[in-house]
This record gives sequence, C-alpha cells and structure tokens, in this order.
Amino acid sequence: MEDRLVSASYKNEDIDIEYSLRPQSLNEYIGQKKVKEKLSIFIEAAKNRGESLDHVLLYGPPGLGKTTLANIIAKEMGGNLKITSGPAIERAGDLAAILTGLNDFDVLFIDEIHRLSRAVEEILYPAMEDNAIDIVIGKGAAAKSIRLDLPKFTLIGATTRVGLLTSPLRDRFGVLSPMEFYDEEELKEIVIRSSKILGIEIKEDAATEISRRSRGTPRIANRILKRVRDYCEVKGDGIIDLSSSKKALELLEIDKQGFDRIDNRILEAIVDNFKGGPVGLETLAYFIGEELDTVQDVYEPYLLQKGFIIRMPRGRKATEKAYKHLKRQVEK
Ligand SMILES: Nc1ncnc2c1ncn2[C@@H]1O[C@H](COP(=O)(O)OP(=O)(O)O)[C@@H](O)[C@H]1O
Ligand SMILES: [Mg+2]
Repeated sequence: MEDRLVSASYKNEDIDIEYSLRPQSLNEYIGQKKVKEKLSIFIEAAKNRGESLDHVLLYGPPGLGKTTLANIIAKEMGGNLKITSGPAIERAGDLAAILTGLNDFDVLFIDEIHRLSRAVEEILYPAMEDNAIDIVIGKGAAAKSIRLDLPKFTLIGATTRVGLLTSPLRDRFGVLSPMEFYDEEELKEIVIRSSKILGIEIKEDAATEISRRSRGTPRIANRILKRVRDYCEVKGDGIIDLSSSKKALELLEIDKQGFDRIDNRILEAIVDNFKGGPVGLETLAYFIGEELDTVQDVYEPYLLQKGFIIRMPRGRKATEKAYKHLKRQVEK
C-alpha cells in the first residue's frame, strides 16, 4: 500500500509539493462547482452579518481537496486554521483545550471526524450548538459543572465515511457537502496549473493523458505529473510530451483507465473467482490481501463511479464494462 502510486491517501512524498500546489482562494480552486457555489454564498453572508460561517462537513474519498478547502475557508473568513484529526484527540480535555484556545473566526478542521471517541464527540455538541462547553470541576459530591463560552468559530469536519457519523453529530453541521471526483477537463486544468508552479514544460495532449489516468483525483494527478517529469528528465529532454508520458505511465503500471494492479485484481477476483459476483466487500478484500478500509475508501468509490462494479444487497457485482476491460467473455 505504501508505495502505491495511485493510492489517494496522503504520503510523505506529497509534503513538499502539496504545500506549493494548494490553491489559496476559492477562485483558484478548480472544479467542485456545487460545493464552491454553496460556500461562497454562505461565506459572504456570514461576513456581512459579522458572524462565523456555519459548521461544514466535507465528505468523500481522499485526495479530492477537503483539507485544501478548509485552508481556503479559514483564509476567506480571516481566521486561523487549526488542524487535527479524530484519532489524534484522545481525551475530552484535549478537545476542550483546543476549543478554548481558538479566537473569533478561527476554523477548526477535524479530519477523519468519524473516528472521534464518544466522550470527545459529546464535547462537540454544545460547542457546535451553543458555542459553549461544559466543564466539570472537582470530584464526587463537590463536583459541579460550569459553562465556558467559546469564540465564534467554524468547525470543518472531513470524512471518507459519512455513514459512520452518529446522527447527533451529523445534524449539527449546517453545511453538508459531498466532494465529487473531478472530470477530465478539470484535472487537466489542475495538471497544467501544477506544471506552471513547478516550472515543468508539458504539451497539452500529455496533460490530457495524465488527467485521464488520475482516477478523478487531484492528489493522484499531481503525483503522476511529478513521476512523469522525473522520467522525462532522465529519458528525454525534460519536456513532457504525449509519447513520453505514455511510456512513463506504462512503467508506473497505470493502465488506460487509470487503474493499477489492485484495481485490476479486484475486478479479476470478482469476475474470475466469484463468477462476476455479488461478493461481499470483506470477502473480496480478504481474497486479494488488501485492507478492507483501503478497498472501501480508495478503490471501490472510483470503480463504482466509473460503472465497473455495482452495489447489490449481497455485495459487489462486476458489470459488462469490467468484463470488456479484462477481455473476458460476458457470462449470460
Ligand atoms: N480543486 C483543486 N484545485 C487544484 N488543486 C487541488 C484541488 N483540490 C485538491 N488539489 C490538490 O490536491 C492535493 C490534495 O488535496 P487535499 O485537500 O489534501 O485532499 P483531501 O484533504 O481531500 O485528502 C492538494 O495539495 C492540491 O495540490
Ligand atoms: Mg486531507
């Protein structure tokens, strides 16, 4: 998993480039029209009223720009961004400390918010609803609860698994926004923008090719761009053209659909080993030796969206498209 190029999750090699490639304003943020439109209206309205933006929940597969959006929202609201994650907040007191340390118009970003513990989550309810937290002081019979007011802040929650959120938490978000896969045109724009920032010379058809094979995901597009550049610097004159990008992609084992070995193993398993399905996701993950979470968060969403598999009550089924892709006879 760690050295997989198309895995959309964050890797160490992304650190150096992600910072410089991150759009800094909504105008610079490519695609996600619906989310952007909604947010720009709400941001403007909140600013006009001198209030903080309502709490925002962003959900969808990794690498689609959730963290980037949180950065932009903080900037637009004129506040600072504090980043943490569900598993990082161990005790209720940790979250209380973070919340009381915020200033007006700050944005608190909690990644993987579905992984908050119950005790921590309960601190969030009054924080989100009444801008206050209740702290218990003292022990036993002498214990009493006092209410602390919080600054006007915005919570941005991000999750790859919106279904795992409890309803009291989900209900306290004013803005719920699904993040969508990017289309080819949008990804091409991102590839060209990134090339400019990194000082890479790239031909238009090569940018199209890379965007086509990036699984609808900006993080993957940027990562492939970087690898293709390396290839072109070593094997050519450093300029990325169509033929060299195709050769580089072949070397990286990314096929024409943007699928890597795991995608293809998933499809092969369903088609060849489970008679086209339906097969349960757990069985499938076990069979191909991958983590269930990875299959569920990273692989399945794209295969579903592209119509290579469909969801059935008893598992996943391969479609005709999958049979064609694998060059197998469709079973009737
Ligand atoms: N809309 C966008 N326009 C341009 N680049 C983007 C966009 N969304 C994401 N990116 C790029 O993809 C990278 C990954 O985005 P990130 O916000 O970290 O994704 P997530 O938090 O959803 O996993 C960013 O560093 C940025 O370079
Ligand atoms: Mg992120």
